Amino acid sequence: MAPIQNFTPFSVLLLLSISPFFTFIKQPSIHAKEQHPVKALVAPIYKSNTSIYTISLKINDANPNQQFLIDLSSTFLSFPCCPYSNPKKVQTSVTINSTDGKNPTGDVTVQNLKTSCNATSVASLARSPHSLSSQLISRLSMKKQFGICMPDSYSKQGEIFFGSEPYYTMFPYSVDLSTVITYIPLIKRPQNPSYMITLTGLVVNHTQILSFNSGTTALISTTDPYTKLRSDIYHSFIDAFNKESAGYARVASVKPFEICFNKSAVPFSRVGYYVPQIDLMLDEGKEWSIFGSNSMVQSGEEALCLGFVDGGMNMEHGMVIGGFQIENNFLLFDKDKSRLGFSSTLLFMRVMCSAFNFTSSN
Ligand SMILES: *[C@@H]1O[C@H](CO)[C@@H](O)[C@H](O)[C@H]1NC(C)=O
Ligand SMILES: *[C@@H]1O[C@H](CO)[C@@H](O)[C@H](O)[C@H]1NC(C)=O
Ligand SMILES: *[C@@H]1O[C@H](CO)[C@@H](O)[C@H](O)[C@H]1NC(C)=O
Ligand SMILES: *[C@@H]1O[C@H](CO)[C@@H](O)[C@H](O)[C@H]1NC(C)=O
Ligand SMILES: *[C@@H]1O[C@H](CO)[C@@H](O)[C@H](O)[C@H]1NC(C)=O
Ligand SMILES: *[C@@H]1O[C@H](CO)[C@@H](O)[C@H](O)[C@H]1NC(C)=O
Repeated sequence: MAPIQNFTPFSVLLLLSISPFFTFIKQPSIHAKEQHPVKALVAPIYKSNTSIYTISLKINDANPNQQFLIDLSSTFLSFPCCPYSNPKKVQTSVTINSTDGKNPTGDVTVQNLKTSCNATSVASLARSPHSLSSQLISRLSMKKQFGICMPDSYSKQGEIFFGSEPYYTMFPYSVDLSTVITYIPLIKRPQNPSYMITLTGLVVNHTQILSFNSGTTALISTTDPYTKLRSDIYHSFIDAFNKESAGYARVASVKPFEICFNKSAVPFSRVGYYVPQIDLMLDEGKEWSIFGSNSMVQSGEEALCLGFVDGGMNMEHGMVIGGFQIENNFLLFDKDKSRLGFSSTLLFMRVMCSAFNFTSSN
């Protein structure tokens, strides 16, 4: 039983004044159908029509398939709850599918997870001991990594893997997503549980437009729908993109975007609309290339807009890489080696994030 029942009124009062409210665990307990240790878990990621990305999880027995906002910077698994009036409800269990990397292989329930209460249900993935990813990985003793494949507005479904590769797609062929990535170091900052990388420069249509001194960082965010750039970087970037795409007919801007083309004038390619390629220059000379499928946002019937926004001058990071720019990309967050694996667009391989086979193999 939760020790909260033994608390004196004074300590209850103390607890009431603390936010977020933590649950207290005794013995961890795990119920898995299979006898073998669980090596990996899989859950669907959905995109709503308002550019919100969620993970579908089963929390406790009363709430099947609840949607949790994916937040790479949040440190607690949270949802609307009221532990003060109903102490039993603080005992949270999460039920999620195990996987062999090809299909879901059966429900695994991890009990007594630490959670906090929040008006929004949040699946926290930060580098902190009480995030959902850290708790699932440590309680099941899985490999310390998770991978996300974000869906686009058309397919609407992607997936998240916790634990060991492989992570196979089924369509149009089978490819292990962990084999198509390039690694870069994640920046380690004590007290900062977010995922940050070093940005060394910016290239538009194969021409380097900016080079940064050490210390310019890019944060990866799944709660920002579009990539935000610090104003000075944004203006140089917009100017260069404007120049390199001068041949395309413009239409009126559609907020929050600035550069919008007449859609009917822009040719289509395997990797989305054919527009100037954008390269983020990263550590160790690595480059993250962004093509039309991750740069151009369809805004209404006729407009195709460059999906980057001005984040103002007071940004902590030079860039916050938002959800649209990582759709149909595979990202692997490797905690042991403190590195990020990134694939750039999977569309070159004709693979989409909707290609995991969610049909149970049982
Ligand atoms: C989003 O989808 C919901 C349900 O499918 C619908 O009710 C709502 O109108 C949609 N919103 C927009 C902005 O399209
Ligand atoms: C596990 O996967 C199966 C097959 O897709 C699905 O029916 C079941 O609801 C999933 N379990 C959870 C907890 O999501
Ligand atoms: C609730 O969750 C959101 C999204 O992660 C976060 O920004 C906010 O700070 C949280 N609120 C509290 C009270 O923890
Ligand atoms: C876009 O181009 C098409 C074809 O040239 C034209 O018919 C249409 O009026 C243009 N739309 C705008 C908003 O300029
Ligand atoms: C990119 O640069 C090439 C060579 O300078 C130029 O011909 C082309 O128009 C530019 N824009 C695009 C969209 O390729
Ligand atoms: C998906 O998995 C199921 C169960 O293993 C299998 O029967 C089916 O053929 C798979 N689908 C594809 C397209 O590979």
